[in-house]
Amino acid sequence: MTSTEQSRRKYDALADRYEEIFFYVADVGRRLVDVAAPQPGARVLDVGAGRGAVARAALVRGCVVTAVDSSGGMVARLRSDHPTITARQLDASRLDFPDGSFDLVAAGFLVQVLDDPAAALAEFRRVLAPGGTVALSLERQTVGRLGWLHELNARFFGSPGETADALSADRLDTLLAEAGFDRLTRTEVDIPKPMADPRALWNWLALQGVPQALETLPPDRAAEFRRAFFAGAEEMHDEGGIVLDFGATLHRGVSAPK
Ligand SMILES: C[S@@+](CC[C@H](N)C(=O)[O-])C[C@H]1O[C@@H](n2cnc3c(N)ncnc32)[C@H](O)[C@@H]1O
Repeated sequence: MTSTEQSRRKYDALADRYEEIFFYVADVGRRLVDVAAPQPGARVLDVGAGRGAVARAALVRGCVVTAVDSSGGMVARLRSDHPTITARQLDASRLDFPDGSFDLVAAGFLVQVLDDPAAALAEFRRVLAPGGTVALSLERQTVGRLGWLHELNARFFGSPGETADALSADRLDTLLAEAGFDRLTRTEVDIPKPMADPRALWNWLALQGVPQALETLPPDRAAEFRRAFFAGAEEMHDEGGIVLDFGATLHRGVSAPK
């Protein structure tokens, strides 16, 4: 299976609970659109739209919104949840729109999951009108006081490949400049999420399929994971509380004259 097919399946499977798990995306979507500040009536393309965190914020501003995603499951939900948005199943690097079709191309937490972000940025510039705006959010890797949980996951399930060569904010600005965007700005966003107790943290992990992952381990290993998890979570709870420290960087640029 190619990485594109894998990604499609992953997001198809996540579509119905996506914004429940990733509770910060709606907030970041609003802030990203605030940073881009499109005028009412502006033609906005949300790429890798997911459940529409960015698209919704653009609709609220009176924009004419098109949303695309490579996952059929996400596109189906976009169509049923937001009938006024034009939703299409398309890949970010092959946008089926004529040159200069949009005033703003926005993408929330997309570029970090692409194999070839440069190809997508070139396509974003192509479909933007001259002087149009690009706005991208990028997840900031924050481990902080949750280091114990990352170590636990690595010990039982191996290190997640995604974080090994994660796209940095500096690298993204370089790619934006190389793709022909200038007047680049960057805004940092912090989204701490306090969890009431260890059980609440467990329930949040459960939404992401941790119980199913544990079923792939021998029963004694699964029990060991649970014990180590609750011991680590109790300790964090007692030492200042459990907080998920999410963060994002918002990148904005303008399509430079060709
Ligand atoms: C991390 S989610 C972000 C969703 C949404 N933008 C948000 O801010 O909540 C990434 C989304 O990009 C989509 N995606 C992944 N690879 C893509 C590609 N090559 N082209 C278009 N969409 C893609 C996924 O299906 C998923 O919906």
